[in-house]
Amino acid sequence: MALLEIKNLHVALEDGTEIVKGVDLAIDTNEVHAVMGPNGSGKSTLAYALMGHPAYEITEGEILLDGEELVELAADERAQRGLFLAFQYPYAVPGVTVASFLRSAVNAVRKARNGGVDDPVPVPEFRKRLMAAMDELGVAKEMAGRYLNEGFSGGEKKRIEILQMAMLDPRIAVLDETDSGLDIDALRVVAGGVKSLVGETMGALVITHYQRILNYITPDYVHVFVGGKIVAEGGPELAHKLEAEGYEAFAPAEALAGGES
Ligand SMILES: Nc1ncnc2c1ncn2[C@@H]1O[C@H](COP(=O)(O)OP(=O)(O)OP(=O)(O)O)[C@@H](O)[C@H]1O
Ligand SMILES: [Mg+2]
Repeated sequence: MALLEIKNLHVALEDGTEIVKGVDLAIDTNEVHAVMGPNGSGKSTLAYALMGHPAYEITEGEILLDGEELVELAADERAQRGLFLAFQYPYAVPGVTVASFLRSAVNAVRKARNGGVDDPVPVPEFRKRLMAAMDELGVAKEMAGRYLNEGFSGGEKKRIEILQMAMLDPRIAVLDETDSGLDIDALRVVAGGVKSLVGETMGALVITHYQRILNYITPDYVHVFVGGKIVAEGGPELAHKLEAEGYEAFAPAEALAGGES
């Protein structure tokens, strides 16, 4: 059994509109899966539903992490079990600094891994790890003291998402368009950060519109996502084909119309 198994997943909005229409996906450690699909096809909805966002209702199907069913668990419980989502549009949290946010998040995961008993990371150890991770990801030290995402540039937000990922050491990382809006150097750094974490303990699901990031993180599998479903699967060559030909070969034109651009 794979580390993360998604079976026949259906997701609806609060008004009952079905967006994700039966997705099967299995992601193991040491694997990178790319999901590519047109605007509005439901990629972020899938990511939110995996994480347990309350606005997205799972109406059918299963999400198993290490064999454990996640569907009934709240977002924080899923995070504690090792699921991580880097948001397409990271939220600002005024009044909470990057460092204190990360320390709370790390401590919540440590508590869960310690059978529910508090096991806070000693502050000097935390600072040392944080500084090392910031160094590696090229995040300016002064960012640690700023309020989370408040006034951050697009690229700074994305780097902070990856910093969070590095500090939390998840089992499965879902990256929703983390490459969008990054300059070339940042893209290389962010991709390098992901690549260095994928391994014996972590697998990743990379949602992207562009083949570019896949030059730095070669995916083991590429899934084409159209109209709430995976309509084709292949290896890295599929991403090149999509870049060259678009999605028309995979779906009727009407399924591609109507998304935001
Ligand atoms: N909270 C919401 N309220 C209303 N509609 C929503 C909500 N979330 C998603 N949708 C709708 O669901 C559809 C899928 O949206 P989603 O964000 O999952 O697409 P996407 O594949 O991530 O697109 P993009 O590539 O533009 O990021 C869209 O039509 C969107 O408007
Ligand atoms: Mg999206």
